[in-house]
Amino acid sequence: MSQADDFTFPRNFKRRYPVAVRGEGVYLFDAQGKKYLDACGGAAVVTIGHGVPEIIDAITQQARQLSYVHSSQFTSWAAAELAEVLAQKFPGPRQHARVHFTSGGSEATETAIKIARAYWLARGEPQRYKIISRWVSYHGSTLGALGASGNKVRRQAFSPLLPAAMEHISACFCYRCPLGLEFPACALACAEELESAIQKAGAENVAAFIFEPVVGASSGAVPPEGYLRRIREICDAHGILLIADEVMTGAGRTGKYFSVEHWGVVPDMILLAKGLASGYAPLGAVLAAEKIWRAIEAGPGSLDHGFTYQAHPPTLAAGLAVQRYLEKHNLLERARQRGEYLSKKLDALRALPCVGDVRGKGLLQTVEFVANKNTKAPFAKEFNFNFRLFENLQARGVMVYPMRGTVEGGAGDHVLIAPPFVIEEAQIDFLVEQLTLAIAEVARAAQAAGAGGS
Ligand SMILES: Cc1ncc(COP(=O)(O)O)c(C=O)c1O
Repeated sequence: MSQADDFTFPRNFKRRYPVAVRGEGVYLFDAQGKKYLDACGGAAVVTIGHGVPEIIDAITQQARQLSYVHSSQFTSWAAAELAEVLAQKFPGPRQHARVHFTSGGSEATETAIKIARAYWLARGEPQRYKIISRWVSYHGSTLGALGASGNKVRRQAFSPLLPAAMEHISACFCYRCPLGLEFPACALACAEELESAIQKAGAENVAAFIFEPVVGASSGAVPPEGYLRRIREICDAHGILLIADEVMTGAGRTGKYFSVEHWGVVPDMILLAKGLASGYAPLGAVLAAEKIWRAIEAGPGSLDHGFTYQAHPPTLAAGLAVQRYLEKHNLLERARQRGEYLSKKLDALRALPCVGDVRGKGLLQTVEFVANKNTKAPFAKEFNFNFRLFENLQARGVMVYPMRGTVEGGAGDHVLIAPPFVIEEAQIDFLVEQLTLAIAEVARAAQAAGAGGS
């Protein structure tokens, strides 16, 4: 065989990627036999661990029986069963939610935006099309989903192509409050911005507000008490749909099935992907509250939207088997417990001169790096602290998810730590030990390169 990356179009042509050949539990192995602790589950995807035989059996069995049908022609038992399991998890008062399957998070965002639009058409309010979202957020890489996203680094190259119907309000990001305020004296001014944005756009023109209850890759920000409730109130006051993007946080990652459950808020739609099939198959879903699908059912009766691979039976079999596995092994509780342990261990990193903040919920934790703790000034953008740290850790056999752009202008570095729920405390100890050593090395290199730090 030729080089593994000779014919693939890689994410980055300047890098050589190790060839992964096997996964088992919290570990990945490459073609050279090197072992990696997967402390980020890829991109906060893997929840139940790699290589669980019963998931692979479920996929195989389904593929053997029925590998494909088009959703305009058939449904399948796998679709019916998984939809029922997910619909019953919909938070809040019992209702009959419905589930639209996709092949990932971006497709789920696109679908939810179109469902929101279809809902308003069905309700006889065709002027409602605007979507409001937040800066420092990510909803996917397709153009509609990227348009809703507020991650400036990821938007930059494609900004001329992004839809104009998307508006953004300030992030809810206490460590770097974009309004320069402090909680609780701020009185949730960032939530109040939604009210002003709605007034400006004209409430009668706004279809939906989409947000990540706990921000994923863009910052890892966790909202303060009261934020979600205030957002729900504002949406209700204007009849605007609330879409919770739980692509990263859903399916248990924060210790509850949906992260909105930490604050008792019920959205109108919830997006799932990543952890839904724990990486065993490309699966996403939009959960729609009863009022939404009933309006569409009673109106046009159909949605002019779909993907060839939506509701793909073996993929759904993977999702279903993962739900059963989570349940059988009580893994949400494990995510909560291990999350607490991880968060406590990571908190110790605050003592390091370049660790500005540690934040997160459950097994979704973020560490942010700064050149100066008092001013929160970032390291020089060109130094690429986050990626150097990633490389240093990869060499040590530990995988984390590096991100830049935490600060306005594209500077700012953080890493996401989101291991499978089955990680043991000793493995968390090893991770934090290696992280501590790697941070010290990269911080020394930054200082030597004149990129900041003391
Ligand atoms: C919150 C959130 N929404 C949407 C997406 C897009 O999902 P996908 O990459 O599966 O298309 C992501 C991916 O990182 C995400 O974190």
